[in-house]
Amino acid sequence: MEQRVVDRLRCPVCGEALAEVTAGAARALRCPRRHSFDIARQGYVNLLAGRAPHGGDSAEMVVARADFLAAGHYDIISTALAEAASAHHQVAGGDDAYPLVVDAGAGTGRHLAAVLAALPEAVGLALDVSKPALRRAARVHPRVTAALADTWQRLPLADASAAVLLNVFAPRNGAEFRRVLAPIGRLLVVTPAADHLTELVDALGLLRVDPAKADRVAASLGGHFAEESAAVHRQELSLSGPEVNTLVGMGPSAWHTDPAGLAARITALGEPVRVTVAVRLGVYRPA
Ligand SMILES: C[S@@+](CC[C@H](N)C(=O)[O-])C[C@H]1O[C@@H](n2cnc3c(N)ncnc32)[C@H](O)[C@@H]1O
Ligand SMILES: [Zn+2]
Repeated sequence: MEQRVVDRLRCPVCGEALAEVTAGAARALRCPRRHSFDIARQGYVNLLAGRAPHGGDSAEMVVARADFLAAGHYDIISTALAEAASAHHQVAGGDDAYPLVVDAGAGTGRHLAAVLAALPEAVGLALDVSKPALRRAARVHPRVTAALADTWQRLPLADASAAVLLNVFAPRNGAEFRRVLAPIGRLLVVTPAADHLTELVDALGLLRVDPAKADRVAASLGGHFAEESAAVHRQELSLSGPEVNTLVGMGPSAWHTDPAGLAARITALGEPVRVTVAVRLGVYRPA
């Protein structure tokens, strides 16, 4: 595994440093107290202490997300994150020879890869509970390391080890995000704006964005972070029926809609389907 990332990882059981060990073909990260964490054949390390609360996004959801992102439909998010991260980096600089960018709930790691492309000296860590997502994140970019970790538990990272923390449509843990972020670091949070995918919400019966979402984000970070700036990024997509199906399949509504009913409703929309992407990017500094 990438040594510059391993240096900043910590044992989720005891908090000690980790080092890579090999036994035949098997590889693991191990701490001095001999707590051991397997490195999967697919390249990610399982840094979970105890059981995961759930498996995160399913294999089907991850395939849908990977396809939809690969078509470039959410590049507006990647670009906004990359611009915010490099703008901050130019101002803050820092004495960090290789800044660490951590993505909590990274999914396939596509946004993290875009941020690393904009920060040539940085290394990245993709954290997620979904194994299908981590298999992709582990090979999304040469400077990305992927690890299984639960955002609701203690993160497997040293204090103040991250220069930038990304959080895109994924759970937030204000206290832990604060602990692992460097004092001059920044937390970049992307959440859906009120009109995100609004055309599909009514037509397909998708889950509506909670109108109190912005308040909940603020509450989850309150006391730990102060908002430095925020902007809403909007774009209209022109999608085919199958692309709409993919978009639905990668989101939370995948749990709530029946496939036959969904297919009929998508057909009824006609093509192309115009869909609004509207996301809020908040930039937060440690309070
Ligand atoms: C909506 S997806 C967003 C993925 C990625 N950030 C993106 O925008 O493409 C949410 C991700 O959070 C992960 N996730 C859910 N609960 C989690 C938890 N408790 N700890 C870590 N990751 C979690 C899911 O497995 C999934 O990959
Ligand atoms: Zn340990």
